[in-house]
Amino acid sequence: MSGDRPATARAAIGSTPAGAILEVAGLTRRFGGVIAVNDVSFGIVAGTVTGLIGPNGSGKSTLFRLISAEMPAHSGEVRLRGQPITRRSASEVNRLGLGRTFQLSRLYPAMTATENLVAVTRGEAKHALERAAASLDFVGLTAVADEFAANLSYGQQKLLEFARVLVNDPDVILLDEPFAGVNPVMEERMVAHIHALRDRGKTFLITDHEIRLIMALCSRLIVLDHGELLADGDPATVRADARVIDAYFGT
Ligand SMILES: Nc1ncnc2c1ncn2[C@@H]1O[C@H](COP(=O)(O)OP(=O)(O)OP(=O)(O)O)[C@@H](O)[C@H]1O
Ligand SMILES: [Mg+2]
Repeated sequence: MSGDRPATARAAIGSTPAGAILEVAGLTRRFGGVIAVNDVSFGIVAGTVTGLIGPNGSGKSTLFRLISAEMPAHSGEVRLRGQPITRRSASEVNRLGLGRTFQLSRLYPAMTATENLVAVTRGEAKHALERAAASLDFVGLTAVADEFAANLSYGQQKLLEFARVLVNDPDVILLDEPFAGVNPVMEERMVAHIHALRDRGKTFLITDHEIRLIMALCSRLIVLDHGELLADGDPATVRADARVIDAYFGT
């Protein structure tokens, strides 16, 4: 579809590659007079890591809510493996293979790390403990499996949230600010986990203000500004785009 367009960030805005696992088409969401997400379209292919960046209030978290069907869009459509999911419930969308983390923690503080995972694990209860253990092992939290979530360090809590998404083995994973407040050691671990999962074919859409990490992680960057797609392309080209510098990198 976009194959013979010039490879500049601007020309590729909203491109939907053939065979995209996740497609967003004309998504719009208003809150009173504010258009939080304005006619946004793009598609991402399986086994890739895409960064979604933009100033505070540019609509990133709202776009995540629309994609994961936590909130209805006023117009537009989301498709997962070509199947429209816009009118499904958030739990149905999750069951279809789309998982996400939240900007603010949704852990249960008075439950242990294991219990936090078991509580959201689908399928047969007898396998839930095994799957929780495998997820904790993957993110390196086995040693704190029986600790209450409230007693974990902030970075460990972020890893636990990540493990909680993985427990149901989603194909598409949305991460909303996974690095916010995380120390460099935990950052490196998160980056390694994301790359390992990508190499197994998982697809990521990640928003974060840690541009250094986003640049290191992503093969494509999408930029939102005032709810609109401002740029879309390879990270180096997008980072150098004058409009992106004006809107986001400033000064
Ligand atoms: N539930 C809501 N009710 C009213 N307005 C909302 C609601 N959620 C978001 N908004 C508004 O929509 C716009 C987009 O907000 P959103 O949280 O999606 O931005 P964001 O890009 O995730 O910002 P940040 O980088 O600060 O997390 C903002 O103007 C925000 O105030
Ligand atoms: Mg946000």
